[in-house]
Amino acid sequence: MKILVTGGAGFIGSNFIRYFLNSYPQDVVWNLDKLTYAGNLTNLADIASLPNYEFVRGDVCDSALVSHLLKKSFDAIIHFAAESHVDRSISGAQEFVHTNIQGTFTILEEARRQRVARFVHVSTDEVYGSMSPGELANERSPLSPNSPYAASKAAADLLVRSFFKTYGFPGIVTRSSNNYGPYQFPEKLIPLMISNALEGRKLPVYGDGLNERDWIHVEDHCRALDRVVRAGRPGEIYNIASGRPVTNLQIVLRLLEILGKSKELMEFVEDRPGHDRRYALDSSKVSSQLGWQITVSLDDGLRRTVQWYQENPDWVAKTRSGDYRAYYKKHYEQRGSTLANL
Ligand code: NAD
Ligand code: TYD
Repeated sequence: MKILVTGGAGFIGSNFIRYFLNSYPQDVVWNLDKLTYAGNLTNLADIASLPNYEFVRGDVCDSALVSHLLKKSFDAIIHFAAESHVDRSISGAQEFVHTNIQGTFTILEEARRQRVARFVHVSTDEVYGSMSPGELANERSPLSPNSPYAASKAAADLLVRSFFKTYGFPGIVTRSSNNYGPYQFPEKLIPLMISNALEGRKLPVYGDGLNERDWIHVEDHCRALDRVVRAGRPGEIYNIASGRPVTNLQIVLRLLEILGKSKELMEFVEDRPGHDRRYALDSSKVSSQLGWQITVSLDDGLRRTVQWYQENPDWVAKTRSGDYRAYYKKHYEQRGSTLANL
């Protein structure tokens, strides 16, 4: 199988590429990534020199580049590229609308023209909005996004749906809950709390800390995506989650316990505007139809994640400071136009 991954230098994309090439060493992966602040090629340092892996620095909104790239005849596209942080979407939504909506449209349109046989759009539980206590969103639940990030992802999901209904384009949407694990940019809850605690900084908990999220280890998400790429049905939506939401406070306290740090580091800060109270998914469809199950327990996953951040302080420091970004920006500017190099 020859696949194109977009956004493969980010957190989930890089974990997916590693998982995929380890599982299927005969397969071929191309990675299209713009290398924004969130994209980091050191996430794939162990993969970079493999003969069946190619990296292309570029923007999913660049239709000339995408069109040229898709002439390489891919069996499937897995579309991760997005702006992904809710807080950034609250400070400024422009990039979210551009990349998440226009970018998805651009790659969908080119994939349709060039008859790509399978297109997996990686979306989020946030499109369903906040769930009441005890309630679970299934794939038929109404979309009710509350942040500009969630709204931009919902718009992209609907574009994929429309391409299936209108053109018979073989698009599939996956909606996963919050991921955690290695290589996650230290602005999201779990890596931020671990890296702050390791550096003796305060751990900012929004509001009362009782918002609930349904955490899934990134490896389990990658396994589910693999099932969807290989056996998912065009036009379908698949929720992917553990089905066991926990409060932010529970997560932060458990991390402090694993790290052996004092609860005094935690501080309650002003709440995020429009902060969704509870995300909770019913993912029985992907289990019953594609045979996927959670394999990493929350406690084991948190321990492994803490250990990874403890062992990689350099990655955290250079990711936070933008050193990696500056290095790769210079490197690719010196190489010249991506289109000409393709
Ligand atoms: P991330 O922010 O870590 O990575 C995003 C990647 O996309 C980066 O490598 C970035 O350089 C690249 N990118 C951004 N704009 C681009 C553009 N215009 N062209 C090409 N590349 C571009 O994100 P993540 O956490 O790995 O999330 C990946 C996908 O999964 C996103 O679509 C996100 O909405 C979805 N998702 C994430 C979570 C989560 O908990 N992180 C949960 C559910 C769904
Ligand atoms: P986040 O990792 O940003 O994911 P999302 O908003 O996509 O769910 O946040 C997870 C939860 O943690 C969310 O309820 C907001 C909360 N949070 C904090 O309390 N403090 C923080 O510093 C951050 C980044 C998040």
